[in-house]
Amino acid sequence: MHDGWKTIIEPFKIKTVEPLGFTTRPEREKALRDADYNLFAVPADKVLIDLLTDSGTSAMSAEQWAAMMRGDESYAGARSFYVLEKAVRDLTGLKNVMPVHQGRAAERVLFSVVGGPGRIVLSNSHFDTTRANVEASGAEAIDLPVPEALDFAAPGDFKGDIDLAALEAKLRGPDGRRVTMIVMTLTNNSLGGQPVSMGNLRATAEIAKHYKIPLFLDIARFAENAWFIKRREAGYATRPVREIVREMFSYADGCWMSSKKDAFVNIGGFLALNDEEWTAKAREILILGEGFTTYGGLAGRDLEALAVGLREVLDEHYLEYRIRSIEYLGDGLRKAGVPIVEPPGGHAVYLDAARLLPHIPPSGYPAQALACELYLTAGIRSVEIGSLMFGVRENGGFKPARMELVRLAIPRRVYTQSHVDFLIEVVADVAKRAKSIRPLRLLSASPRLAHFTAKLAPEAVA
Ligand code: F0G
Repeated sequence: MHDGWKTIIEPFKIKTVEPLGFTTRPEREKALRDADYNLFAVPADKVLIDLLTDSGTSAMSAEQWAAMMRGDESYAGARSFYVLEKAVRDLTGLKNVMPVHQGRAAERVLFSVVGGPGRIVLSNSHFDTTRANVEASGAEAIDLPVPEALDFAAPGDFKGDIDLAALEAKLRGPDGRRVTMIVMTLTNNSLGGQPVSMGNLRATAEIAKHYKIPLFLDIARFAENAWFIKRREAGYATRPVREIVREMFSYADGCWMSSKKDAFVNIGGFLALNDEEWTAKAREILILGEGFTTYGGLAGRDLEALAVGLREVLDEHYLEYRIRSIEYLGDGLRKAGVPIVEPPGGHAVYLDAARLLPHIPPSGYPAQALACELYLTAGIRSVEIGSLMFGVRENGGFKPARMELVRLAIPRRVYTQSHVDFLIEVVADVAKRAKSIRPLRLLSASPRLAHFTAKLAPEAVA
């Protein structure tokens, strides 16, 4: 991108810094015990490198901070709302824009309107809060990823795609009439942060149109998805990302965004759609739970920062660096022989705990055990995406998840290459000692979104 040099640099310089949380091994052992082996319960100042999530953890730009000072805090019709509304309309072409405090609020509002008992939502993969909100409405959430998405070792350019044959079969089948919406998650966070191709999106839109089912996009990471299309899909290499994004949205009847990801904000989101009837109902629910329709639970300053972020993320220097930096982490881990979900995703590298810890069955939560070991070893916080998050525990039974992954999610514009080099060193060290990692036992978990509050303990040595 810059005059043909091989090294892709961080396309920013740093104005404000924060110290990292250095701890001793005994301090980490205590912190983990006190947290019942749930990394969500570990205080952040006891974390050295925090890869729990890329959500709300971005460094905002000077432009975003400056925009915050322009925030109009009027209760209704704030100038900042119109700034955001224009930014979202310019980006998506969708008409009715509702701010919300974050992605799951949009999901709750949306599925309160379109969900309900007897209804079905089909998706390449629902993110956990999406699934929970669909199910909380009484509807059923069905994932239809392409088969190769579940073969974590296999290469593939667009493993985030939806299985078009399975989608058609569902819509033609006996339950077809109950399908209320098709959701495409860009990128597919639950299965490795893998992108969806434009071809797949276009074909999904054609199917959706044929069966008269609205197609909505969950766009938390839409710009990262667009960069993969530019780099990997025939015909897009010379198209500006902005145009690629516009084409993506041309297939959608609506979308929602957790703007805590690709819009670099620490809080915020929105729901955007064209249908007037759904909009009217959504606005009612918005007022009931989030706030008036022009602020939706956010401050005026948040709306301003979000509007700037939506533009900034389309900077191709940034996107090239962003995707390359994740790939760099993937390269390092692969070289060290650590099994990862291939290829590295847009926002994270996912360690395959099922392959690394074959001695721990899903009921011993291998991915959670690995995440705990990374923390104990060097204060690295990651997140389990496996049977703790997606396993089903009902009536004393246990159905494991389809995957046992540890996600190393990289906050945007926060860590530098030396942090990543350190990370590679630590993960490689833990992987070498994988055989000695012990299973965990679940002490308590709530029926829904269990991973946030679950309590665990190491299994006693036999
Ligand atoms: N959709 C996707 C694809 C997500 O990744 C998330 C959040 C949401 C919706 C919900 O948004 O958190 O703003 O309410 N993902 C975070 C993560 C939590 O760590 O991946 P939210």
